[in-house]
Amino acid sequence: MPPTRTMLVVHGGCGRRPAKIPEGRQEALERAVREGLRGRTALDMAERAARCLEDSPFFNAGTGSVLTLEGRVEMDAAVMTGDFRAGAVGGITGVRNPVSVARAVMEQTDHHLLVGGGATRFARCAGFGRYDPRTPERKKRWKELVAKLRAGGSPSEDRYWTRTRPWLERYLPREERGHHSTIGAVARDAKGRVAVATSTGGIWLKLPGRVGDSPILGGGTYACPDGAVSATGHGEGILRIGLAKVACDLMKTHPCQQALDRAIAFARRNGVEAGLIGVDAEGRPGEATCAEWMPTARA
Ligand code: GLY
Repeated sequence: MPPTRTMLVVHGGCGRRPAKIPEGRQEALERAVREGLRGRTALDMAERAARCLEDSPFFNAGTGSVLTLEGRVEMDAAVMTGDFRAGAVGGITGVRNPVSVARAVMEQTDHHLLVGGGATRFARCAGFGRYDPRTPERKKRWKELVAKLRAGGSPSEDRYWTRTRPWLERYLPREERGHHSTIGAVARDAKGRVAVATSTGGIWLKLPGRVGDSPILGGGTYACPDGAVSATGHGEGILRIGLAKVACDLMKTHPCQQALDRAIAFARRNGVEAGLIGVDAEGRPGEATCAEWMPTARA
């Protein structure tokens, strides 16, 4: 695709293609792109698109986030710009748009990452109101899963505290394992600035305090003068291989699509299920995944 002046790409997670894609899900991604394009700067564009997806219950971010073992929502989000400015929150609770809190961390504090109670307290000080992002569907599913956990044949809760993955693999269909609907947006504006925003509720029944790749700079989110990248997939794996940074580094020498293809080949070689969207400094978009499915939209 030839370079364009402005570019916005969004993703709604990656994983196994559901037997039936919920009606309206793709339209929610398209709507987020339209909303993002109203932004003036690349950062505005990425944040606006990400907020729109956080507000859509189709996705595991903001409203519709999956629940922890204790039935709470703990969300992770980050923003970053091509001039290495960044803000992030991990395990934040009780806010509607974690991505905007992440931006406030960047713009209003001396720090890059606030977590847990500190992140929530900061959000209140910065004027973000109280909000419960749990939807009735997610609460119902949490009750079902916890009932299965308690019904026996599963690890005791003590053991569960140390190892969740075998239990989740036993009881949770692949298409439901949370990271499949993390959201992200990358943008390049008319002045050639690039930015990224990523947001997620993490994974179902995660241990309280678990933070995934999305708010970790270089893990699930990264931007540099050469481009911006948002990742989706299995957070622990993406973190281990620093996938968003790998992809951005490749943009120094490759056009965006080639850089993402190579980064995903690296993920596959290391057994990490992941997807990436990106935009390079020329405004060339890209997307790549080693999962079966990664819904995206762009303009
Ligand atoms: N990639 C989202 C997560 O694992 O938290």
